[in-house]
Amino acid sequence: MSPRKFAKVEGKLPGAKASAVVKASARYIAPSFSRFYPLVVESAHGALVKDVDGNQFIDFAAGIAVLSTGSTHPKVVQAIKDQAEKFIHFSYTDFYYENLIELSEKLIPMMPGGERKMVYYGNSGAEAIEAAMKLTRTHTKRTTFLAHSGAFHGRTMGALSLTASKPMQRKGSLPLIPDVVHFPFPYCYRCPWKQTFPECDYYCVDYFKEQYLEKFVPVDEVASYFFESIQGEGGYVPAPPEYFKKMEFLRKEGVLFVDDEIQTGVGRTGKFLGIEYYGVVPDVVTIAKGIASGLPLSATVAKAEIMESWKPGQHASTFGANPVAVQASLATLEAIKAEKLVENANRLGAKAKRRFLEMKEKYEIVGDVRGMGLFLGIEIVKDKKSKARGEEEARRIMDYCFQHGTLVIMAGRNTLRFVPPLNITEDVMDEGVDILEEGIAAVNSASKKT
Ligand SMILES: Cc1ncc(COP(=O)(O)O)c(C=O)c1O
Repeated sequence: MSPRKFAKVEGKLPGAKASAVVKASARYIAPSFSRFYPLVVESAHGALVKDVDGNQFIDFAAGIAVLSTGSTHPKVVQAIKDQAEKFIHFSYTDFYYENLIELSEKLIPMMPGGERKMVYYGNSGAEAIEAAMKLTRTHTKRTTFLAHSGAFHGRTMGALSLTASKPMQRKGSLPLIPDVVHFPFPYCYRCPWKQTFPECDYYCVDYFKEQYLEKFVPVDEVASYFFESIQGEGGYVPAPPEYFKKMEFLRKEGVLFVDDEIQTGVGRTGKFLGIEYYGVVPDVVTIAKGIASGLPLSATVAKAEIMESWKPGQHASTFGANPVAVQASLATLEAIKAEKLVENANRLGAKAKRRFLEMKEKYEIVGDVRGMGLFLGIEIVKDKKSKARGEEEARRIMDYCFQHGTLVIMAGRNTLRFVPPLNITEDVMDEGVDILEEGIAAVNSASKKT
């Protein structure tokens, strides 16, 4: 193997200390997590991660698109320290503090559309979705929610009712909220109607009208339509360019648009929100993950006339808008602006995508490459013609990357996701992409022999 500058792995993983933690974890920690490989983190800075045995990895996962400014960005760390010395918690459910106003004044202007907006703050993505569900029901006085198959909106009972990306997420938890209608997402590489874009002329929208609205969904009972501007856990799938505009007919029927930007938001796609690629102004936007570079914070941003439907006592969370997380969020937004990280996502994302598209030309098992900015997916297949899902192959590539010092994880059943910190440097990224290509090449030639 060629000498590496950043990725440094000694011997086969997991090392001795990591093995001990993995074993203890099986004893103490709820077994509901589906981890891909045994990384045991000791420390992380920027886009480099050290494990407990002294191995170093390039981070293409960013704590699942959370570490927007990388690990331990100095401005974020300083903001956390400064705030922790002032006060750590004071529950904005009952009291006030200033930095929440400062954050809202920064965050609101970054949302599309010029109308006055207000924010509800929580701790996690699922909480932001729960708030949007309650809020849109309260405002519209309607019951039904629309969501897509392949969607991921969280794992709490309300959010889980919208989530439909893997049966395991629901197994044993049924029944959920009854009034949720799922319909297919326009996943063009695997078009549910076996059509080809653009010749299909958005048949998916006609199908939804004919088979759902005209057959069994009373549209005047639909409170809101939840969607990810680019599906995340469903396999990193962008909708075709005019899709959400074509769905806007629903708004004339009084249906509110809730845009889940929890994974795609905060500059990751090369725009502040993924929906900016689609020219649609949502009624409600949910943000979490990258908003505070790793501290728990989420925001449900709604047009003021919608948010003002809530009366005191209707919704709150003890820990929501924790002042330390808010300060980390202010530092995150400042770093994104000062260091031009959205531009970085565009520039480096374009370079990475070019490399992945070349891999698609070279390797039979690379079926599709898609996404924007530093939110990219590589769909692994058994072969290009059958498009049979290469689940085992994708796992072997991830394992190769881990064993050689790069952290890549999956989205959906067989898509490798590329979501490094937005401030990853070009040399670190290039080295990780080289390792990823080696993994793809190795699994590609092994699959030819079988
Ligand atoms: C699009 C989307 N919505 C909601 C969630 C749920 O967020 P959390 O895990 O913070 O509850 C996720 C998490 O992956 C997500 O990707």
